[in-house]
Amino acid sequence: MKYFVCNFKNKLVKDDIVRYNNRLSEIESKKVKLVIVPSLPFLAFFDKNGYSIGSQDISSFMDKTITGEVTGEQLKSLGVEYVIVGHSERREYKHEINIDFINKINNAIESGIKVIYCIGETLKDKEEGNTYMVLEKQISEVLNNVEVKNIIIAYEPVWAIGTGRIPQVKEIKDTVEFIKDIIEENYDTRLDVLYGGSVNKDNIASINAIKCVDGFLVGGASTSIDSLESLLLEIEK
Ligand code: PGA
Repeated sequence: MKYFVCNFKNKLVKDDIVRYNNRLSEIESKKVKLVIVPSLPFLAFFDKNGYSIGSQDISSFMDKTITGEVTGEQLKSLGVEYVIVGHSERREYKHEINIDFINKINNAIESGIKVIYCIGETLKDKEEGNTYMVLEKQISEVLNNVEVKNIIIAYEPVWAIGTGRIPQVKEIKDTVEFIKDIIEENYDTRLDVLYGGSVNKDNIASINAIKCVDGFLVGGASTSIDSLESLLLEIEK
């Protein structure tokens, strides 16, 4: 069963969230493992009836009292099963770096929360032919320092996020295979790999047809319940 992870980012307000949750109960998602990842204040609004919830963040600190942080223990107490770590927007705008990702992953794993670790090349990396090198570095510099279990990789080309542009199907397939292979070589385990970046109803079927892709991390197109429904219908076909 493929993952379908809905990353709301900082979109939607309380009324939207309540409506979204109500409609979720009508949606059949038999073919996917649905994970809803709202802004932190709205985690408790989701009833988890037939789907899971994930957090967009977790504290990188352990055993410290810090204003504005949320711990793995707190997330766990809300029934959170997944946390997104390493998203390119956090890398770019919050200047998060490997040590933050390592600490966040360790905190999540310690609390029994699965990690969706995001990696991806920029347009410059791609144009300079450095995609594989960049991905390998993002993997090794973090995974060498954590326990490699309960981690799902999300391959999200930075240039594809929120732009309406996606790589060719063959490129996605080759890159996901590359990611799986180097992880297997170095850590002796096969991790699930999701694709993220401008997934929409026109391209989801072709991405879904790629066998090695274990699911989707969807931003913009998941923030409307009608759009979510049409994406799921495309997968059911
Ligand atoms: P997008 O975002 O689907 O809006 O491109 C994906 C993501 O950033 O996770």
